[in-house]
Amino acid sequence: MKILVVGSGGREHAIAWRLAQDKEGHELYCAPGNAGTAAIATNVAVAAEDIDGVVAWATANHPDLVVVGPEAPLVKGLVDALQKIGVPAFGPVAAGARMEGSKRFAKEVMDAAGVPTGKAEVFTDAAAAKAALPSFGLPVVIKADGLAAGKGVIVAETAAQAEDAIDDMLVGNKFGAAGAEVLIEEFLHGEECSILALVDGENAVLLPSSQDHKRVFDGDKGPNTGGMGAYSPAPVVTADRLPEIKEKIILPVVRELKKRGIVYRGVLYAGLMVNDENSNPHGPIAKSGSAVNVVEFNARFGDPETEAVLPRLGGSFATALLHAATGNLKDEDVVVKDEAAATVIVASGGYPGSYEKGKEISGLGEAAAAGAIVFHCGTRLRPSDSGAAGQVVETSGGRVLSVTGMGATLREAVDKAYAGVGKIAFDKMFYRKDIAHRAFDRG
Ligand code: AMP
Ligand code: GLY
Repeated sequence: MKILVVGSGGREHAIAWRLAQDKEGHELYCAPGNAGTAAIATNVAVAAEDIDGVVAWATANHPDLVVVGPEAPLVKGLVDALQKIGVPAFGPVAAGARMEGSKRFAKEVMDAAGVPTGKAEVFTDAAAAKAALPSFGLPVVIKADGLAAGKGVIVAETAAQAEDAIDDMLVGNKFGAAGAEVLIEEFLHGEECSILALVDGENAVLLPSSQDHKRVFDGDKGPNTGGMGAYSPAPVVTADRLPEIKEKIILPVVRELKKRGIVYRGVLYAGLMVNDENSNPHGPIAKSGSAVNVVEFNARFGDPETEAVLPRLGGSFATALLHAATGNLKDEDVVVKDEAAATVIVASGGYPGSYEKGKEISGLGEAAAAGAIVFHCGTRLRPSDSGAAGQVVETSGGRVLSVTGMGATLREAVDKAYAGVGKIAFDKMFYRKDIAHRAFDRG
């Protein structure tokens, strides 16, 4: 198949890499891609959010499938535009991407579908929001309705923090239009995990469970990031929970959207809070009465979850994605290998705050030789400084590389990932040393 992957991060490199593993062989393109995708696909100089540019490329090149990685082009209607010109596209239409783009919309859909989630109320007026706070208890969660680059969620420990967050969003316009509506949400106790489901408008197939590490420092300390590592499977989700997650969370959402005229195709990513005797920690039961509650939905593959989950898939990945994009998904399309995977993010010093770019990266070949799979998140090629032929890979983002190890056990997978990381060097690089600690803490 001729396939275009849209995006430029570790997730998109992992999607392209996994497509390249398919036995049938594909002609792969990435828009715009990065230094990693350049080695396995043809990078196309079109930005992921350039809807007209991607449509023009697809019109000229007739791909069999376009796979959209990030949320921004989904919310902007890239899949709608590709459908108009008859090109199969993996990802939801803009109306479906609102499951990620509007937390208020996601709550409405969940409530209508009877999906367990934190109790929430929506406000546009700061005084009314503050008056409602006491009924939620503490801690309490304040959320901007729209996309706020991962910064629109405040878990407030005190009433003063909650009031400040409300003022920031509704009075100070800290997130602009994204914060013009605010949700106050019940705090959910437990341990988080990610479930990515392939969806074809009607049916869904769950991919293996995973867990990411959102805080920047070891021991889950410091500010939130886009994710500092991930592993799969996540033992907090016991196998007996998976049918329940499919029947009570994923499928009811897909059906509710269909009722509203939205045919949801692509990935439905459920960020879940599990609160049972198996979760670490666990605490008071949520108002929904359910042990598993939805924290958020995303309309795309998770990053870095994708870099841990996709290497575990067997079979033809292109067929699975095409079947989802065209309404023909079957359980057999998803084949899971009986191996564990762990991914360590290698980041630029200063991330998630400000950081420098343009640092030359060494040891990528040695990391691969040590058995790790190195996905590029924020890299680019530049001519070598010595004037010799060839190019060097340099940093171009906060999250730079996603280094994945596979193994018969999670311990082997983690060791393999860190063996790879140990070969890599660039000025001011850093990474978390405790990826998968929650799984190991269980003993
Ligand atoms: P979100 O962008 O909705 O995923 O929120 C970001 C992070 O905030 C989540 O990954 C959780 O760690 C935390 N969070 C969000 N909502 C809740 C909630 N209702 N209870 C506890 N933690 C939450
Ligand atoms: N790893 C969290 C996300 O992709 O949203």
